[in-house]
Amino acid sequence: MGQTIERRGEEKATRVAGIPLWRATAAPEPLLAQLEQRLAEFYARDKRYFAIAGANDQRRFYEALRPYLEEAPRPGAGRLRVLEFGAGRSGFPDWLDEQGLRRRIELTLQDVTTLNRDWLLPRTDALLVGDAAEGLDGGPYDLIFSTFVYEHLVRPDRVVEACLAALAPGGRLALFSPAYVVPGYVPPALRARSRWAGLAATVFLCLQSLRTRLTGRPNFWIAAEPAVFDQAFRIDADAVHLVAPADLDCLLAGRARRRTLHLPAHGLRDWIWSRFLLLAAVYEKR
Ligand SMILES: C[S@@+](CC[C@H](N)C(=O)[O-])C[C@H]1O[C@@H](n2cnc3c(N)ncnc32)[C@H](O)[C@@H]1O
Repeated sequence: MGQTIERRGEEKATRVAGIPLWRATAAPEPLLAQLEQRLAEFYARDKRYFAIAGANDQRRFYEALRPYLEEAPRPGAGRLRVLEFGAGRSGFPDWLDEQGLRRRIELTLQDVTTLNRDWLLPRTDALLVGDAAEGLDGGPYDLIFSTFVYEHLVRPDRVVEACLAALAPGGRLALFSPAYVVPGYVPPALRARSRWAGLAATVFLCLQSLRTRLTGRPNFWIAAEPAVFDQAFRIDADAVHLVAPADLDCLLAGRARRRTLHLPAHGLRDWIWSRFLLLAAVYEKR
């Protein structure tokens, strides 16, 4: 499938059928910074992104967190401390209210943008604004979670580290995102390429995921030229992180215990999606 190595000084991009991919763990800092800058400029220009990010009642995923939300707080702690990062225009506080759970939770919402500030502020106990990779204040938290943010992160490994650092011992990190490790399931960020190149990339990502499981070395593959820079906006064309659950498992090995979250499926298509194409997992900090 035409995999070659390209050198940039000491640094390398891996080209898969002409698509340059980078490991977030090893990519040159200026490349990641430039990617962040280009994405920020796109978001500032194209408000449709936030219109989509805004329509976000993710109750199906909140429901999967219910057992953790109903747990008793730690001894000495008044309420359960919960942080949602990359909250967008989160439907979580209203869902908590509806379920009669809001009062037992001290809620912090976080995002890199202030665009949804007016929506979030009246619904939360605290609001954090900034890049989650730079750290998450206000902890320690009992539960940190996000819905459909992980695949958008330019520095996913650092965000996971920031989450782990902000958790109390025994606290949980829950992530929901697409997973791109099934041959043929082309990440939307690569869909501006030829069909052949996209397919070759999915085989590459699948093999890399197996390799990570065997070697214990995570990659966190990043597409530095996502489709969103070439085409009109489509959902997840900006999702630069080509998520492999193996990366997360290896990064957190020995530091957290993993549990898969099984969502109730609505039909066969949904079952296939939620079983094979979705990351839905909780990591309990040791
Ligand atoms: C696709 S939206 C998802 C929003 C919401 N969680 C949902 O389920 O609809 C991705 C969100 O992640 C946020 N985000 C992206 N990069 C981030 C970062 N480095 N730190 C914090 N938030 C980030 C964006 O601002 C946006 O609100």
